[in-house]
Amino acid sequence: MSGELSRDEVLAFLDRLERGELRAAEPEGDGWRVNPEVKEGILRAFRLGIDADVPAPPFAFRDRDTLPPRGELPPGVRVVPGGSAIRRGAFVAKGVVVMPPAYVNVGAYVDEGTMIDSHALVGSCAQVGKRVHLSAAAQLGGVLEPVGALPVVIEDDVFAGGGVGIYEGVRVRSRAVLAAGVILTASSVIYDLVNERELRATGAETLTVPEGAVVVPGSRPAPGSWAHVRGLSISAAVIVKYRDGRTDARTALEGALHRTG
Ligand SMILES: CC(C)(COP(=O)(O)OP(=O)(O)OC[C@H]1O[C@@H](n2cnc3c(N)ncnc32)[C@H](O)[C@@H]1OP(=O)(O)O)[C@@H](O)C(=O)NCCC(=O)NCCS
Repeated sequence: MSGELSRDEVLAFLDRLERGELRAAEPEGDGWRVNPEVKEGILRAFRLGIDADVPAPPFAFRDRDTLPPRGELPPGVRVVPGGSAIRRGAFVAKGVVVMPPAYVNVGAYVDEGTMIDSHALVGSCAQVGKRVHLSAAAQLGGVLEPVGALPVVIEDDVFAGGGVGIYEGVRVRSRAVLAAGVILTASSVIYDLVNERELRATGAETLTVPEGAVVVPGSRPAPGSWAHVRGLSISAAVIVKYRDGRTDARTALEGALHRTG
């Protein structure tokens, strides 16, 4: 359908993304529904665009002319100078703070009051909820293709520590805390010490971090006697607890950093 969008329709489509009227994925019941037509529209914007110079003296940039950095900042958003960009077709809600350098790619949705710290990436189509903290160097991978694939989803009040990497459509439910250095892909296994269970992606379900889980980077013995003889281990994300008052205190943020008004 959107494969046939005209250039004007693509530009109107990007405007709707920027207003938050269209989303690459949205909550549905207890889960998330992908909107493949949104991703198709974004891919159409790449295909229809031609490479054009992007005026930003004294630097020189060239990119698809349909997807330049947004010319104006969304109202109520503070972007500190220093190499950050919010790309065309990204929705960024009121009260979001973007520290330099950070990048918010096309189709991303970042909801109110979220803090995007330095060197953080919000990849294409990633869905980020309200009051999320993406610490320095946190990376949310882009999931543009295949168009039916769920993007990375970070729900309300999640705290992602420094250097966290969330990729391949992993879903982090609200209030979860990802300790610095946690990396999750669709192939990761999360070991829940509290409930004594293993969490994995299944054919139908994406890998999901439970609500309020506190996940830290861990390791487990690599399988097989060859690995055992050599003392090898492989990384394993571990839920050590569920969020409590102590966690809230450790992840509390300086209010002044968040003010945008
Ligand atoms: C997750 C975090 C918030 C700690 O949460 P907490 O609720 O205070 O956790 P607790 O101290 O109660 O720890 C519970 C258990 O997990 C362990 N643990 C906590 N954080 C851990 C970590 N990052 N790695 C490994 N183990 C960890 C603790 O040692 C403790 O184990 P024990 O019960 O055997 O002693 C903290 O580790 C963290 O990652 N903070 C984010 C730092 C950061 O990235 N800041 C942003 C800078 S821009």
